[in-house]
This record gives sequence, structure tokens and C-alpha cells, in this order.
Amino acid sequence: MTTAPPSEQHGQPGQPGSGLVHLRAAGVSLVLDLSGSTLPRVLHWGPCLGEPTGPQLDALRLARRCQPIGFSVDGPVEVAVLPEQSAGWLGTPGLSGHRGGTDFSAAFRVERADLTPGEDTPEGGGGGRLTVRAADRTAGLGLGLTIELTPSGLVRQRATVTNQGATPYTVDAVNLTLPVPAEAVELLDFTGRHLRERDPQRTPFTQGLRMRENRTGRTGYDSAYLLVAGSAGFGNRSGEVWGVHTAWSGNHRTFAERTFHAVSLLGSGELLLPGEVVLAPGESYTSPWQYGSHGTGLDELSARFHRHLRARAHHPSAPRPVVVNTWEAVYFDHDLARLRELADAAAAVGAERFVLDDGWFGSRRDDRRGLGDWYVSDEVWPDGLGPLTDHVTGLGMEFGLWVEPEMINEDSELARAHPGWIMATGGRLPGAARSQQVLDLARPEAYAYILQRLDELLTTYPIGYLKWDHNRDLVEAGHRPTGRAGVHGQTLAVYRLLDELRRRHPDVEIESCSSGGARVDLGILERTDRVWVSDCIDALERQRIQRWTNALIPLELMGTHVGSGTAHTTDRRHPLDFRAGTALFGHFGIEWDLTRAEPTDVERLAEWVALYKELRPLLHSGTAVHADHPDPSHELHGVVAGDGSEAVYALVATATSASYPTGAVRLPGLDPDAVYRVRPLPPGDVPDGNAHRWGVDLPWWTPDGVELPGRVLAAAGLQAPVLFPERLVLLRAVRVGTPSAPPAAPAHT
Ligand code: DGJ
Repeated sequence: MTTAPPSEQHGQPGQPGSGLVHLRAAGVSLVLDLSGSTLPRVLHWGPCLGEPTGPQLDALRLARRCQPIGFSVDGPVEVAVLPEQSAGWLGTPGLSGHRGGTDFSAAFRVERADLTPGEDTPEGGGGGRLTVRAADRTAGLGLGLTIELTPSGLVRQRATVTNQGATPYTVDAVNLTLPVPAEAVELLDFTGRHLRERDPQRTPFTQGLRMRENRTGRTGYDSAYLLVAGSAGFGNRSGEVWGVHTAWSGNHRTFAERTFHAVSLLGSGELLLPGEVVLAPGESYTSPWQYGSHGTGLDELSARFHRHLRARAHHPSAPRPVVVNTWEAVYFDHDLARLRELADAAAAVGAERFVLDDGWFGSRRDDRRGLGDWYVSDEVWPDGLGPLTDHVTGLGMEFGLWVEPEMINEDSELARAHPGWIMATGGRLPGAARSQQVLDLARPEAYAYILQRLDELLTTYPIGYLKWDHNRDLVEAGHRPTGRAGVHGQTLAVYRLLDELRRRHPDVEIESCSSGGARVDLGILERTDRVWVSDCIDALERQRIQRWTNALIPLELMGTHVGSGTAHTTDRRHPLDFRAGTALFGHFGIEWDLTRAEPTDVERLAEWVALYKELRPLLHSGTAVHADHPDPSHELHGVVAGDGSEAVYALVATATSASYPTGAVRLPGLDPDAVYRVRPLPPGDVPDGNAHRWGVDLPWWTPDGVELPGRVLAAAGLQAPVLFPERLVLLRAVRVGTPSAPPAAPAHT
């Protein structure tokens, strides 16, 4: 094995040849053991260990070595990031595959390891990247591993398996894992459905396997999203937590496993359907990236993901424009005069982007036909989209367009011309969903057709934004004529298509929508700029859906819209301030027929739009914080500027409270040593359903607010005003005093 010389390794890597690698970044240490020639093992993933010397790292290895137990394999069980039976691990295998039934178990030997240190940061340690090349000569397999600690303290890793044999090798699964300590006794992961995405669920971390599988062919409503293991009772700001995310938009699995060997792992990988990956000699399969984040409390775990996403080269840097999306305003009723009127109303409240949703193409007058026919409909747009795009751009707004390129209706010109392009197996079509089928983009002609249609639309019209939808699960999705399972190939083809369109049209932003929020993952976000969080824009439901979407992705990537007074998906009525104050924490938009809204509402909405524009630099660059308020009927969340100079918070009553009012609420995340003025923030400053503007008997609830140190606001908090259920108020904290200088030492004479 060769490694980079220790002097080039980051931090204190251990003695020459010791095979220990210590990566540090943003308060996290990752210690990898490469001693011997077996695959890398994680000795420590968690809080920063400082700068231990080489002998101290050797001592750590010794101190952490397992004791062999009776009636198991002799010798300690060593669990690598890609766990192997050959090393004594009898849990979920890292690699499952075979060569016609043989070579079903691998014993990889590391042949080369290279370390590329990250750039040093003032926080100490900039992480780095370890690449490992290994092989099992007997099984005829090669393995490449990349393990990184990113500057924000995220671990990310992926594996490439290469068939070095002379016959085909079938890959059934490649799972990577990260160990967590015995302190992790509780699990948090997510489930969901249409209109109720990212629903949290907590369970004890018991012995055995908790496997979350997604077979929907997209990221899925009920994907694990984040699988977090943590210490007892962990919360937003407390407890130690470790979480993994699988950056993949097709079938995948995410799991937590605890065995009697006192090993606890978080793992993940792509879920491959039978026969999806068969490697010819010389071919390779690369797994999705697995991300791991550690923190004290969920906020810190999330902040690492947010910092990582914000550091991407293509992360949106321009202010996130106020969107008006036409879907809930007009649905399929596309009429130029009506849409012009809507565009006028949008511009009047301050909108900056106008998105024409479903219904503009082919025979698409309802949701039963037309998908695949990506030609502007002559019937509803006799002069093309030009008259609308001209009007929208003339009003100073950007024009956006809805598409659903991966889908096809059986009732479409495309399906009539190319029935064989529909994904299917067994000589039958899959059951329709929303009357649609899936277009096989792994088929070169279908891919070329879609690329050409989208490219032409983007070239013909001044489109700055695509709302890219995906409205059904992939069921029995085979490539024809063979009928072979095709979700893996379809996922890669969609990534390729997005990458190619972005290459050709680098200034076009793309939103990942999937019947609401069924495609939210870091794989799709490598090639998109926003996600549609949910089709449910009922503000009460959105409070929960947005909170948990934000556990992984920052606010500027989350589409959050204000709907009409009565939510279309729940029939609940909410006042505008609750709706708009909810949409404020995200990439703000409007999905409401403003031409029919009450003038007082339109006026108020314009105030909210103005507030969003004022706050977006803070909302879209600051640190998201969530208090651990003990009353389940009230939540406090906010965003604190990176330099601690200001913050905005929302206090939200999701239900009536047993105590009246809820008591004091603590404001997390401020600089403890600085002094802040905290004020109610208009227009979200109305605590009692418009009853007593400024008149409530809460002494500090005045335009002047109150001045207190960050430490006091975090520890003692502020008395909350009485709120009706399903209402919120906003607070703004602005630093007015810098950290006080320490008292001068008495002079000695
Ligand atoms: C589902 C999306 O989530 C909605 O926002 C809308 O675009 C419809 N599809 C259009 O069919």
C-alpha cells in the first residue's frame, strides 16, 4: 500500500506507515484506519479530537479495538466502510453480487491509498479526500473508494466496483456505512405522502436492522430523507446526533443496524432491481454519494449540509426572485387575456418571476392527455407563447415554464408514433398513474427527442426558469424490447439530460418538482436550483413540511408559496399573515388568482413581498435555528446572520396551548456576548388575530421592543404574546452593542 507521505497528510496522521488518517474540519474529526491491507475502517466520526500525535492515534486504535467473543468468528470483527463477511461482519453486506452464482463474497485488499488534504481554515482543519484502490484478485473485482471530509464537516463517500474478471458480474447492492457509538439510542427518519412530505418519525435504536427502502423510481415521498441516530432525547439544539443522506433520485435504501458485536451503523446505497447492473469485463458501477453529518443538536447537523450546498459553484447567488406560479390560479384554463391580467397583478405586488404551469402544450387541456407533445398548443396559444412572454418580460418579470419531460400520456401524438418508448415489461403496460406512463430516456431516440424539444423551447422563448415536474412512481419500469428493469438507467439518463441542458443553457434555473416534493435529494440538487416542497400550501401543514425539508436543504432552495385564503388541498382557511409569514421562510412565491383577491389582501401581500425582499439576504445566507420550546403547540424558528449581526424569528402557534400564553420563548443562535434590540416585525407583528395592534398587555410588545444580551435571550428568553391557534408573529433582533471588552486588569504599582 502506498499513501501520501505523512508530512503531506492533514493534521496529525500518525506515524509513518501506521495507516491512520485523521481528517478535521469545522469541529468534526474523522479517523480512518487503513492498517493492514483490509478496507478502511472508521475509528472515530464525531466531535473534533484536537491534534493527537501519531502515538496517540495508535493508542486510540488499540483502545477501540473490539474484544473477540465466543462462538463468533475468531478474532475481532472489523467493520469497514464497505462491510465484508470475509472480515467477520454478518450484518448487511457492503457488496452483494455474483458471477453466475460464484464470487458472491469478496475479500478486498487495499493496493493504494492517496490522501489529498483540504485547504486549512481558521477553524482548524479543512478536511480532505482519501481515495483507495483495492482488489480481490480471486473474485476478479476491483474497488475504488472515495471518502471525504468536506470543509463544512460533512463526511461523504462513494464506491466504484469494477469487473476485472473475464465473465459478466452482477451487482445486486453496494452499501456504504458509517459507525455511530453506543450513545446513539434513538432514531429519527422521515416518511410522507402527497401533500404531507417529510413527516418525522422517532423510534428507539434497537438491536437489528431498520431498513428504509424506496422502490418508487424517484426519491419518493416516504424516503428516509435523513436518517439520524442520536443520544437520548436529542433535540434541535441538544444531544449528539449523526445522520446520513443518500444523494440519489431513484430507488435507494437507507438503514440503521445494531448488532451484538456492539456495532451500530448507518448505511445506504442504491436499491438495484434484479439484473439492473450486470458488468461486462472491464465495466464499472459507481454508487451514489452517501453523506454523513454530525452535530450537537439537529440544527448543527443541518447547518453542515446547508454550508456544503451553499459552497457549490452553481448555487444560486442572485437574490431569489418572488415567483408567481399559475397552477392554483388558473389550472388548465390557459387564456392569454386572463394570464396577462394575472401577470399585471403579479407585477403590481412586486413579483419578479412568472411561471406558466401545466397546460400550454399539445392536447393538454386536462391531466389525461398530451404529455410528450412538447409543442406549444395552437388551440390555446394560436400565436405561440410570444404574446405572454413579451407581456411578462415587458412588466420586468422573468418568464418560467412548466415541463414534465420524463413522462408520456398514452393519449398523445408521441405515444401514437412511438408506443415502444414507454417503459414496460412482461409484454404489458404498467398500470397508469395520473393517466400517464414513463418515457424511457435511456433509449437514445427518446432522449434525443426530449433534448431537442426542450432545447428548442429554451432557444425560442426567453425562458429563465423551468419547473421540471415528475408525477408518477416508476412501476414495472422496464426497457423495451428486452423488458429488463430500468430504474437505474432511467435515473442516470435524467441526470445526463439535466446536465446537458444546463451545459447548453447555463443561465436557466431548474426547479425539481415531483407531484409536490417527491424528488428532494442531493443528487437532483447537483443539477437543479430549487425544489417544490409540497403541493400542500396550507400554511399549517407547511410549517411542519418546511421545517423538516430545511433539515437537509437551506431556505433559498425551498419553494414556499402563499396560496388563496382557503387552501385548495385541505379546505382550511387561514389569514394572509399566517400564510405569508409561513412562505417567508423559503424562496417566496404566490400561487393564487390575484385578479380575484380582495384589494385589502393584495395590499397586505405587497407588504409581505417587500418584507421578503428586505430579508432575503439574511434568510438565504444565515444559519437556520429552531428552539426546543417545551410546549408542543408553539414553535419558534428563525435565521441568524453568519456574523451574528441580526436575526429574524417566527413564533408559531400550531394549536391551542394548555398554558395561556405559552410562556417565555428562548431565542437561539445569537452571539451570547452581544446586545440585541428585539422588536415585533411588521407586518407579522399582530399577535392576537388583528384584535389589539400594539394594545396587548405585553410590556415589551411595542415598536421599540427590548434590549438584552444574546446570552440572556438564549437562556431566559422573552414572554410570548397570546396567539390564536394557526397564527404567527415575527421578531427581529438587531445587534446594537458589540461584545463588551473584558474589564481592564488593575494596574500594579
Ligand atoms: C404537480 C405539481 O406539484 C403542481 O405544482 C403542478 O405543477 C401540477 N403537477 C401540474 O400538473
